[in-house]
Amino acid sequence: MSSNASDSRETTTVSPGRRDDVALSVEGLRRSFGGITAVNGTSFDVKDGSLTGLIGPNGAGKSTTFDLVTGFTEADAGTVSLYGQDVSGLHPYQLVERGLVRTFQTPRELAQMTVEENLTIAPQNQTGENFLYSVLPGLRKRVTVEEDSVKERAREMMSLFDIEHLASERAENLSGGQRKLLALARALMTDPDVLLLDEPFAGVNPTLQERLLEHLRQLNADGYTILLIEHDMEVIMDNCEHVLVMHQGSILTQGTPDQVRNDEQVIDAYLGGSA
Ligand SMILES: Nc1ncnc2c1ncn2[C@@H]1O[C@H](COP(=O)(O)OP(=O)(O)O)[C@@H](O)[C@H]1O
Ligand SMILES: [Mg+2]
Repeated sequence: MSSNASDSRETTTVSPGRRDDVALSVEGLRRSFGGITAVNGTSFDVKDGSLTGLIGPNGAGKSTTFDLVTGFTEADAGTVSLYGQDVSGLHPYQLVERGLVRTFQTPRELAQMTVEENLTIAPQNQTGENFLYSVLPGLRKRVTVEEDSVKERAREMMSLFDIEHLASERAENLSGGQRKLLALARALMTDPDVLLLDEPFAGVNPTLQERLLEHLRQLNADGYTILLIEHDMEVIMDNCEHVLVMHQGSILTQGTPDQVRNDEQVIDAYLGGSA
């Protein structure tokens, strides 16, 4: 999938601080809501091809960081770079076109539509449905021009996630776990390079969680760069090569699972709650 796309990016104009192995770089991101500073000068890099974890107590600013990185919320300050190119301030759909896609903590599929429609529907008729527009912008062209190829990719995704039998089922009838599979399938419809996943296992039973994890490991092995927010420390520790720890709006520390696990600051942050 993305190796050619990544290769072609090697020759694009780069910012001075660029490192070739960095897929996503965030510098000094900041965002307040009224009196609450949700994200307070967050900086980190996500290595190309890595499966990186983002953890931290409730309210640490993880989801808001995803919102800022993916253009769903405007930042007060800071920059975001994708493969060395400054993409700060771009809209979600523009970022999807550049290979960055995210899923939400609470799935946002269209409840009244079938699984297949959720994967293929053209967003131009969805005025106001910003999330769909942003998740499936690549389809705007393809649905009209290459409808068959969109359907074919949707079938591929349903097959990959073993939800073909649910193709004609309305999304509202899916279990929590099936919705998470659908969310991941939708994200992959646009063939991204970098996937930001916000608690993809929340509300998923252990069997399906293991299946989802297997998918993520396989996607990562296939070359996708994945940044994963997950509250279950063990899942992060067992699967991520690098872990970012957020606390009160900024990165408290980062390192390998072992380094992070034994870090006093991390233990204190979790024991102390998010206050
Ligand atoms: N749209 C918003 N309006 C007001 N406060 C917000 C908004 N989004 C997030 N927050 C606040 O920002 C802080 C960080 O939230 P969030 O990013 O969801 O944390 P996490 O995902 O780490 O649990 C919390 O205090 C939350 O209440
Ligand atoms: Mg969150």
